[in-house]
Amino acid sequence: MAEPKSWQARIGEATDALAQSFVESISYDRRIYRQDIAGSIAHATMLEKAGLLSAVERDAIIEGLKDIGRDIEAGTFVFDESLEDIHMVVEKALTDRIGEPGRKLHTARSRNDQVALDLSLWIRDAALEMGKKLHVLCRAHVSMAERSGDIVMPSYTHLQRAQPIAAGAECLAWCTMFWRDADRCASAGEFAGVNDIPLGSGAIAGSSLPIDSSITAQLLGYSQPPLSSIEQTASRDQGLEFLFSLAMASMHLSRWAEQWIIYSTTEFSFIKTADRYTTGSSMMPQKRNPDMLELIRGRCATVYGDLVSLLTLCKGLPIGYNRDLQEDKRLIFRAFDTVSACVIMSAAIVNATNFVRENIEPTLERGFLDATSLAEYLVTKGTPFRTAHHVVGSLVARCEREGKTALAQLQLPDFAAAANASGADPSVIGQDVYDALGSRNVVKRYRSPGAGGGEPFKQRLAEWKARLGC
Ligand code: ARG
Repeated sequence: MAEPKSWQARIGEATDALAQSFVESISYDRRIYRQDIAGSIAHATMLEKAGLLSAVERDAIIEGLKDIGRDIEAGTFVFDESLEDIHMVVEKALTDRIGEPGRKLHTARSRNDQVALDLSLWIRDAALEMGKKLHVLCRAHVSMAERSGDIVMPSYTHLQRAQPIAAGAECLAWCTMFWRDADRCASAGEFAGVNDIPLGSGAIAGSSLPIDSSITAQLLGYSQPPLSSIEQTASRDQGLEFLFSLAMASMHLSRWAEQWIIYSTTEFSFIKTADRYTTGSSMMPQKRNPDMLELIRGRCATVYGDLVSLLTLCKGLPIGYNRDLQEDKRLIFRAFDTVSACVIMSAAIVNATNFVRENIEPTLERGFLDATSLAEYLVTKGTPFRTAHHVVGSLVARCEREGKTALAQLQLPDFAAAANASGADPSVIGQDVYDALGSRNVVKRYRSPGAGGGEPFKQRLAEWKARLGC
């Protein structure tokens, strides 16, 4: 037998069973019970200060709410679907347990401001949790950078060989991306900016009762009362910002996954992941597939879907609360769960993967990776960069014509001739030109902060280790 609803005085008939199960959100919003209880405790505290509850009533409410919280944690609490959502379920349980004072809790409050508060509080916790997970992933990349030692590998632009880098520098690139994602989540959690509290907005227009939402704001860590009760109950901006941060993290994960899928092909064989993170084929006995990476790449699509769904949910929605907004939690929870699982999986994979020096280094000199270094050598000798670029371009072309595979195979007179032909001073090129050639030499010469090798890389590695405590 379904419980009579709080609105039964107005709505004559009991809700149709189909309608009831269609409209319910308790099946998924029970997840915000902790936030709902915390919000109600703060609300009761404020109501007492505002003279709307006695101290005895307030204490009974707070004790009752804590009691409900304990039962939910213990798994002994029964969620009644006919009560629709977590807010009604908690309030009903409270009244069942403590009687009359429970009936006063909803003074100057609506589920519209209650749900906005609960979600905001949940996002705050979830953002912190996501930040911690992302930092675990950052640590995994930093330790891979460290154990990659002095392995040098090609970097790619346009997926064509570009310049040589310390293999670990690429790990630090991923670390930097995921670190920024953690930051982005944190600011979505705090909803950088005004940070006013939704609670105290009521259904839409606030209340005529003498509530003081600066008290609830202070108790729950918001900077001030609602700036606009109408906006606070109508908007899901914080949810959108958080979901966007998740989508961004997911996009970064998909890029990393794709990179490593490429690196684990037979053609590249740049990395080797422990067998426990690969799967076989049901038909082809020889296979070793990077399925987890592929799923990380693939699940990004579902997170984008959740973001676009929430944007679309809010698109064209009239101001004020509309029941459409109930769908927000489904989307945000799902995106959070998806990204959490992907981040945890990614960290495990990174910890079980190494660069394979024997596969990377033998072909390292292919593709004239030291061409830019040679041009910069000429710049250090006073040659304008555009001229230097031309000189080196002609030298690469010459190597290809003559079947030479590396610039270091050229003789000093070859360099002088190319300089001459491009109008540069040939006399500046000395024996030290060979120090600027060869991938290993090049990597050592990087000087710009954040560069892909040499001292700048060592410095960043040390900084990340200190920052992440690893
Ligand atoms: N369960 C709803 C939600 O998640 C909150 C209830 C507001 N409903 C209402 N009829 N005023 O958005």
